[in-house]
Amino acid sequence: MQEKLSIHGAWSNRWVFVMAATGSAVGLGNIWKFPYITGENGGGAFVLVYLVCILMVGIPIMVSEVLIGRRGRQSPINSMKDLAVESGLSPRWSLAGWVGALAGVMIFSFYSVVAGWVLYYVAGMANGDFIDIGSEMAGKRFEVLLADAETLLIWHSVFVVMVMTVVAGGVSKGLERATRIMMPALFVLLFILLAYSMTSGAFGQGFDFLFHFDPSQLTWNAVLIALGHSFFTLSLGMGSIMAYGSYMPKKASIGSTVMMIAVLDTLVALVAGLAIFPIVFANQLDPGAGPGLMFITLPVAFGQMPGGHIFGFLFFVLIAVAAWTSAISLMEPAAAWIVEKFGIKRVPACTALGALVWLLGIACLGSFNFMSDYKIGSMTFFDLMDFATANIMLPLGGLFIAIFAGWKIKRYALEDELSFKQNFWFSAWYFSIRYIAPVAVAAIFALNLYNKFT
Ligand code: PFF
Ligand code: NA
Repeated sequence: MQEKLSIHGAWSNRWVFVMAATGSAVGLGNIWKFPYITGENGGGAFVLVYLVCILMVGIPIMVSEVLIGRRGRQSPINSMKDLAVESGLSPRWSLAGWVGALAGVMIFSFYSVVAGWVLYYVAGMANGDFIDIGSEMAGKRFEVLLADAETLLIWHSVFVVMVMTVVAGGVSKGLERATRIMMPALFVLLFILLAYSMTSGAFGQGFDFLFHFDPSQLTWNAVLIALGHSFFTLSLGMGSIMAYGSYMPKKASIGSTVMMIAVLDTLVALVAGLAIFPIVFANQLDPGAGPGLMFITLPVAFGQMPGGHIFGFLFFVLIAVAAWTSAISLMEPAAAWIVEKFGIKRVPACTALGALVWLLGIACLGSFNFMSDYKIGSMTFFDLMDFATANIMLPLGGLFIAIFAGWKIKRYALEDELSFKQNFWFSAWYFSIRYIAPVAVAAIFALNLYNKFT
């Protein structure tokens, strides 16, 4: 029998899937967001909770997403719908796909603004602007950038166009080609930075901050942030990994590829933390400095290094690439759905989506200047897009996916897709997806709601 394939295309082999999914996972979440939320939430205890969430919740849900995508072979919305109907359920299960596609657009809008900052730093490094810069000047420079809406708009627009161009190229000529080129280089440069940080003096202090377990630092809000980040960093709960799974060859093993992706993503986050915190402590910076952390510490480090502007330039290029490969996966689920639904080509589909993201992004970048007084609750628009997606929509999407895979899909379909060599792995996954993952997500939600109202 001919293997059923997606109308959008397929990865050439399982390694392309691993690289593409790693490209989706490894991004600003690892290098920008993880260090700064760890800093804001007190370090070690937060890191431990985050690691537990990856293992107990993230990995089982990632397996489910790949499985659903590969069996459905369509955009997440339509894959969920068909699998639901096939299992005798309501087509309304596709709602999870809808929430996901929306979350993708929302994440993309603020992600693109931050990626725009990265592009601005690429240009600055190429110019030699940061040579010998001290921590005070580096902080100042970042502040000036945030106040300048026009510059932010230019770089945000550039980034949206970069992403649109690749997604419009389709699975083989767009996504596959893009991920194949830059992924290996990213790892090489990350280790160069780590080596620098290990020799810069305060490595021990940085290490301690990341791994010293002090439970008194932990709040339920921090636990929610750790859970939300485990979804964000693995690109889960919104269909990115599901969409990529729909292009995966049938022969490839889901369990081992997922493990590889999760391990790589976690390593990159920890290495980024180990690179950034020693610089923070060596320069008496504040680990809780927030979103600007990476943009202040890295220029300081590169500014002092011999030939630092070259490394700095390369490094920001690679962060830009990491952001790029992730943003591609933010757009793919919605793009694939538009193509399926309206039977139009990728170019118009991506143009429409890009325009939407671009508009939302203007409100995000305005949060730092012309719209900074406009608050929803106590949050700016930028903060709201981040909070609502990472801490609410992705975990909710994940909860749906866990219930769907664990309780709704027929068991033979699961066994057929997973075909674990040992029964043990199937049982471990099945138990996690039925009990641990949904209960953990629901409990953390409930506790936070309870704390809000008492
Ligand atoms: N995983 C990406 C990161 O860590 O930067 C961000 C992301 C991509 C989140 C795709 C969600 C997603 F669906
Ligand atoms: Na990530």
